[in-house]
Amino acid sequence: MSKINILITGGTGLIGSRLTELLLEKGHGVSYLSRSKKQGDGSINYYHWDPSKGEIDQEAIDSADYIIHLAGASVADSRWTDSRKKVILKSRQETARLLFDGIKNSDKQLKGFISASGIGYYGYTGDQLIDESASLGNDFLAKVCEKWEEESLQIKSLGIRTTIIRIGVVLSEKGGALKELMTPVKFFVGSPLGSGEQYMSWIHIDDLCKIFLKAVEDESMEGVYNGVAPSPVTNEEMVASIAKTLKRPVFPINVPGIALKILLGEMSEIVLKGSKVSSKKIEAAGFTFGYPSLNGALSDLLN
Ligand SMILES: NC(=O)c1ccc[n+]([C@@H]2O[C@H](COP(=O)([O-])OP(=O)(O)OC[C@H]3O[C@@H](n4cnc5c(N)ncnc54)[C@H](OP(=O)(O)O)[C@@H]3O)[C@@H](O)[C@H]2O)c1
Repeated sequence: MSKINILITGGTGLIGSRLTELLLEKGHGVSYLSRSKKQGDGSINYYHWDPSKGEIDQEAIDSADYIIHLAGASVADSRWTDSRKKVILKSRQETARLLFDGIKNSDKQLKGFISASGIGYYGYTGDQLIDESASLGNDFLAKVCEKWEEESLQIKSLGIRTTIIRIGVVLSEKGGALKELMTPVKFFVGSPLGSGEQYMSWIHIDDLCKIFLKAVEDESMEGVYNGVAPSPVTNEEMVASIAKTLKRPVFPINVPGIALKILLGEMSEIVLKGSKVSSKKIEAAGFTFGYPSLNGALSDLLN
């Protein structure tokens, strides 16, 4: 494939940074739409936007062949107060709307729009394996994903190939869930959270970034795909695997769910509930996982 220009929103974040490395290695051009004005080392073009004020540099869109939309306020940074919930939801709606307007006003035809969403779409579904056809959950994160996807799908109405990746728990040595899970294990106090029976549908960050790359390159990829590995595990299994990889014992008493509820409020749902999500659709599209098993993923990330 010849060099293409890919505009990433939220490219400065955990997933965007790794995705950028991969795209640059492949010889693609990368631009960011960012709220910050920093310019980096010159390998990336920075364009400025301020979604809360409806401001966007139109040149960012006019120069892009594809857009990968990752931007949104973190769902795990602070307690879900009413005002934080508004920020989480609004940041996804405002950004997608600005992109819609920018794409509509551009003279250039975009070749593809790929948006992040989350497996939070499904709500908490116990130990039943669910695929992309499963129904929408009824909690806060499900509502966020629903609105986020609705806004992204508006772009499809402009005649642009639109792909949505419902991302699972991303495992990276640089941050996110793995950092939170491994810190207590390192200090000999790692133990399952709540019942430990809740499922964690995880994915190695490199596999996720390669799914985004495939969504750019493979014109047959359209619609919704889960971005999860083929082997979801329970929280108890996750903690045990991290402990084994770090050569630490698992602390024999689970962290009580009630303590996490008091500490984190409603946000404790992220760690106390879960869903067992299928990767069959992305595999049927021809994607081969580099890290299909948890032990392989952890030994790559932690050793
Ligand atoms: N990591 C996971 O396990 C996971 C799982 C499911 C879904 N996701 C979703 O995938 C996307 C990327 O994840 P990530 O882990 O890379 O996230 P991240 O590290 O938090 O980065 C998100 C980026 O979004 C931009 N952003 C933050 N707050 C914003 C706001 N209020 N308005 C507009 N832009 C804002 C920031 O870029 P600038 O500062 O440059 O503007 C930030 O670098 C997110 O939308 C996330 O919800 C992630």
